[in-house]
Amino acid sequence: MQFTNLFISLLLTTAVAAKGKNGTSTKAVTDKSLCKEMATLTKLVALASNETKLADKTNNNATKIAEIQAKASDASTQLTTMESNTTLVSTCAVIAAAQKTEDDCNQITSMTKLVALAANETKLADKAKNNATKIAEYQAKASAAAVKLQTLQANTTLTDACTSITSAKAAAKAEKGAAASASTSSSAAAASSTSKSSAGMLNAKCGLLATIVMVGAGILMF
Ligand SMILES: *[C@@H]1O[C@H](CO)[C@@H](O)[C@H](O)[C@H]1NC(C)=O
Ligand SMILES: *[C@@H]1O[C@H](CO)[C@@H](O)[C@H](O)[C@H]1NC(C)=O
Ligand SMILES: *[C@@H]1O[C@H](CO)[C@@H](O)[C@H](O)[C@H]1NC(C)=O
Ligand SMILES: *[C@@H]1O[C@H](CO)[C@@H](O)[C@H](O)[C@H]1NC(C)=O
Ligand SMILES: *[C@@H]1O[C@H](CO)[C@@H](O)[C@H](O)[C@H]1NC(C)=O
Ligand SMILES: *[C@@H]1O[C@H](CO)[C@@H](O)[C@H](O)[C@H]1NC(C)=O
Ligand SMILES: *[C@@H]1O[C@H](CO)[C@@H](O)[C@H](O)[C@H]1NC(C)=O
Repeated sequence: MQFTNLFISLLLTTAVAAKGKNGTSTKAVTDKSLCKEMATLTKLVALASNETKLADKTNNNATKIAEIQAKASDASTQLTTMESNTTLVSTCAVIAAAQKTEDDCNQITSMTKLVALAANETKLADKAKNNATKIAEYQAKASAAAVKLQTLQANTTLTDACTSITSAKAAAKAEKGAAASASTSSSAAAASSTSKSSAGMLNAKCGLLATIVMVGAGILMF
């Protein structure tokens, strides 16, 4: 559990941010944007060092190539500085793992739907408007999906994580719904309940983020 300490510090900072109610810029959001920036810088540096790609992207425009290379040189310096922060690098790894898990879960959901569609002749004909070519396309896609689905679903850590994410999302949604209906109550109560509701929403969001981060870090053991 190499990420445990990191996760706890993330959780604590999100908890602090949630208490501070203003919290549009929570620690988690900041880290996320820093990680995104690092990814962008990394891509730029990679592009500048790949002559084939560079020529391709710029239509071989020497001026543009020089511009990109100059930008990449600055990016490289900035990237070195950011990468020297090992805390940030580990945080980005956790966030990336959480994102990957969520993407995998979304893929499981959509591939399951596709496989079910292909298995139901009535539904398939309806969806493809009886176009035999389209029906065959769906079936080909579904059989490729079935193979991938089997691989993903064999990973019980992943499927359990997906279950947790789904229920965390449902809870966040329910909380948001409750907050919304609470805020439509009498205007006298509204002033006080609004701040409570928004804090509730923030907590629900943080709970979801925490779940996804935990899942990504492999901390939730099933
Ligand atoms: C929270 O909001 C108050 C009032 O709007 C402001 O004075 C304070 O600086 C804010 N705190 C943070 C951490 O942004
Ligand atoms: C350079 O980019 C091309 C695609 O434009 C890719 O096929 C190739 O593998 C890249 N080369 C390196 C060294 O990354
Ligand atoms: C090359 O790129 C520069 C800078 O973006 C642009 O001003 C110039 O018109 C381009 N040249 C050609 C031949 O497209
Ligand atoms: C390293 O990154 C972490 C997480 O973003 C941040 O809290 C910390 O201040 C950074 N440390 C330095 C020395 O920049
Ligand atoms: C096939 O889909 C139709 C709706 O398009 C549904 O009524 C039917 O129950 C489905 N059949 C099976 C076996 O799931
Ligand atoms: C059937 O679907 C194929 C593939 O999507 C399409 O190219 C073709 O035009 C469609 N045929 C008719 C009759 O709509
Ligand atoms: C199973 O899923 C978890 C969570 O997404 C992931 O960390 C792990 O690497 C996966 N294991 C395999 C063998 O793919």
